[in-house]
Amino acid sequence: MAREQLVDGHGRQIGDVRVSVTDRCSFRCQYCMPAEGMPWLARDELLRFEEIERLVRLLAEMGVGDVRLTGGEPLVRRDFPRLAGMLAKIPGVADLSITTNGFLLERDSQALVEAGINRFNVSLDALQRDRFYEMTRRDALPRVLRGLETLAAFPEAHPIKINAVAIRGFTEQEIPAFVRFAREHPYEVRFIEFMPLDADRNWKPESVLRGEEIRALVEQIEPLEPETREPHATARTYHFADGRGRIGFINPVSEPFCADCNRIRLTAEGKLRTCLFSINETDLRGPIRDGASDDDLEEIIRAAVWRKELKHRVNEPGFIQPARSMSAIGG
Ligand code: 5AD
Ligand code: SF4
Repeated sequence: MAREQLVDGHGRQIGDVRVSVTDRCSFRCQYCMPAEGMPWLARDELLRFEEIERLVRLLAEMGVGDVRLTGGEPLVRRDFPRLAGMLAKIPGVADLSITTNGFLLERDSQALVEAGINRFNVSLDALQRDRFYEMTRRDALPRVLRGLETLAAFPEAHPIKINAVAIRGFTEQEIPAFVRFAREHPYEVRFIEFMPLDADRNWKPESVLRGEEIRALVEQIEPLEPETREPHATARTYHFADGRGRIGFINPVSEPFCADCNRIRLTAEGKLRTCLFSINETDLRGPIRDGASDDDLEEIIRAAVWRKELKHRVNEPGFIQPARSMSAIGG
């Protein structure tokens, strides 16, 4: 059934949803989770697969065809590939992607590809074992690299993107290794500016290593040539001038792309969020479990999306960091 295109009150057509399937994770990245003591959702608080499928189907009917599965770490949700398969079959889901920390890719790559996931982003912030441990608080670099290799063996899994959160005082030293990595492997390495979504609340404006700064450091090693930017793309991408390898920059802090943002988010417990930095969210699980019809849900979703934030205010005085940190929102 086709429904009217989902739009917000600022004239943006919503075409992209990030669906968090769990708040749990096998890592404890500094920029995301606390080392200990993160409270988990109880099992019955999580949306069930059938509930996620219903919402994704409804959104797809409203023109939201790009679906990205996130967490926490999505692969720790039991039977995750079955969910991916259910979503891939929904008419109108044009693109089904995943953001994962890579820890379970050795086990799951084949099942994910077979389920119909067609794009993969793997988080990887450091290429030296001790520094990877420092950032993620888990000694898992060799395992993640093996997972990546397992995934890369499937032609359908490409292009594979590597996400590195860029933090001043940490990421500078990783740049030469990432340049080599991007040139020697069929992965596009993308640096993401550190955003104030860390549970530890250590974020400071000074801790953002800006994309432009990294680009300048990369160019000292290898010259880059810009590529044209696709509509709604969050990354600025470049290839190395000799044609070997690609690299990208996601600069939400220094160059906000809010005006072009066509994205909404669904948390693992069924809250609709219209911005990473939303202070308010809209519960969908309650209405679903109270017997709301698809038309009822559509009305709730449209009303919430109509009020989608014009832009984030990270760079403004009085910015309030959302109560939820990244793993509880869904990257
Ligand atoms: N700032 C920027 N990116 C973040 N991510 C998690 N927390 C932050 C943050 N505070 C990214 C990670 C991961 C994705 C899920 O979100 O790189 O790839
Ligand atoms: Fe886990 Fe991803 Fe958060 Fe790291 S960034 S702790 S991998 S959810």
